[in-house]
Amino acid sequence: MTQYAHGLKRVGFTSGFGVLAATLGSAVGLGNIWKFPYLTGANGGAGFLLVYLLATLLVGLPVMIAEITLGRVAKANPISTLQALAPRRQPWWLVGVAGMLAAFLILSFYSEVVAWVFAYVVKAARGSILSSDRQVTEAAFGALISDPLQSLLWQWGVLVFIGSILLLGVTKGIEALTKKLMPLLFLLLLLLCLVSLSLDKAADGLAFLFKPDFSKITASVVLTAMGLAFFKLSIGMGTMMTYGSYFRDEQNIPLTTFRVMTADLCVSMLAGIAIFPAVFSFGFEPAAGPALVFITIPAVFSQIPMGQWLMVVFFVLAAIAATGAMLSLMEVPVVILNERLGLSRPKATLLTLFLLVLVGSGCALSNSTLAHFKLFGLTLFDLFDFVSSNIILPAGGIFIALFVGWVWGIDKFRLALTNHSQLHNEKLVQAVFLLLRYISPLLILIVMLKGLNVF
Ligand code: PFF
Repeated sequence: MTQYAHGLKRVGFTSGFGVLAATLGSAVGLGNIWKFPYLTGANGGAGFLLVYLLATLLVGLPVMIAEITLGRVAKANPISTLQALAPRRQPWWLVGVAGMLAAFLILSFYSEVVAWVFAYVVKAARGSILSSDRQVTEAAFGALISDPLQSLLWQWGVLVFIGSILLLGVTKGIEALTKKLMPLLFLLLLLLCLVSLSLDKAADGLAFLFKPDFSKITASVVLTAMGLAFFKLSIGMGTMMTYGSYFRDEQNIPLTTFRVMTADLCVSMLAGIAIFPAVFSFGFEPAAGPALVFITIPAVFSQIPMGQWLMVVFFVLAAIAATGAMLSLMEVPVVILNERLGLSRPKATLLTLFLLVLVGSGCALSNSTLAHFKLFGLTLFDLFDFVSSNIILPAGGIFIALFVGWVWGIDKFRLALTNHSQLHNEKLVQAVFLLLRYISPLLILIVMLKGLNVF
């Protein structure tokens, strides 16, 4: 039998816990630690959080269940899965192609953010960024991202690192490591929350995060929140379909999905509670953008004894969490090139990396050499982020929901979700099916059209 991704065979993960850990490994990443706080800060706080939670429940959860189910039934890459399950000549497999494009776009900017995390491990160890002085932490981050050489070299370093993991076939080891270390990240975030909550303007930060100002919820805020829900759960592009193909037949898909979603939300909430009280206490700008976490975290650590070394640990753990997410992103193009175009896995990996160095460099230079190169008013970094999260993933979500709701149908969906009547979750199956057939696609479509100013 062929050896597949992460050293797993298509027959599936070895244990139920392995499934949960691997799926969580894809979901939890810089989306929680970096993107969630910065988008919440830039989009008005609690109102954004509320919409994000709604989007996760009404759209994210059903689409994730759909993706994993389709993957498990077909046991193949996203393109082959949709080809196998759809009636002949209906081009649903194009969702898999779009997913591959999304993986490239996301990896291009994500690898740059991982590059900043790696660079911060070194900077933290040197002690040069530990300060509660806004000017010091902002200058340190600014110096990193505006230096083209540093930006490029760190990013290429990240890509070589990920490539080596894949080529050496040690992904399984990395996953085991992630599994062991994630509780540590959780604890460290908890410690940061306690410190942040003890700061003098903590109440302002909490109010920003939890007291919605409904006037700030515009159509584009709603689209951004929904895009974040897709990005966070790694859905709409075939990643979860690919992971579903490794699920065992007796795994309870709705339960696993619910656990992943809950754990993922918890990590994001901890990150939010660690960041915003500090933002208000130290006089940072909540709307600082992608820099937010990198300038705030050093200020929080500056309040803790041994803060310098704990900060090193924090960024190492963040890098490990990001590595799990990146491996799952790489999986989409690599499996497709491998299974569809017949490239060997090492060749598929090298080709993907080569393309990423080319395209990703444009994102790495978005804050320096290419800062003025804009398309639709956005730098390449922002454009790739916007197009993937706010257009490709939600559109993929619409098609996956429609496919299950109208083409695949309730009977096959029920059979798969009840594990051939082994599980007694009929009500749940019906509720999820209803969401997929009517509510999720309609909601996504309206949010997209409004958010993109189409009407
Ligand atoms: N969910 C990851 C995070 O929040 O960091 C990012 C991600 C991974 C998005 C895999 C999409 C994906 F397919």
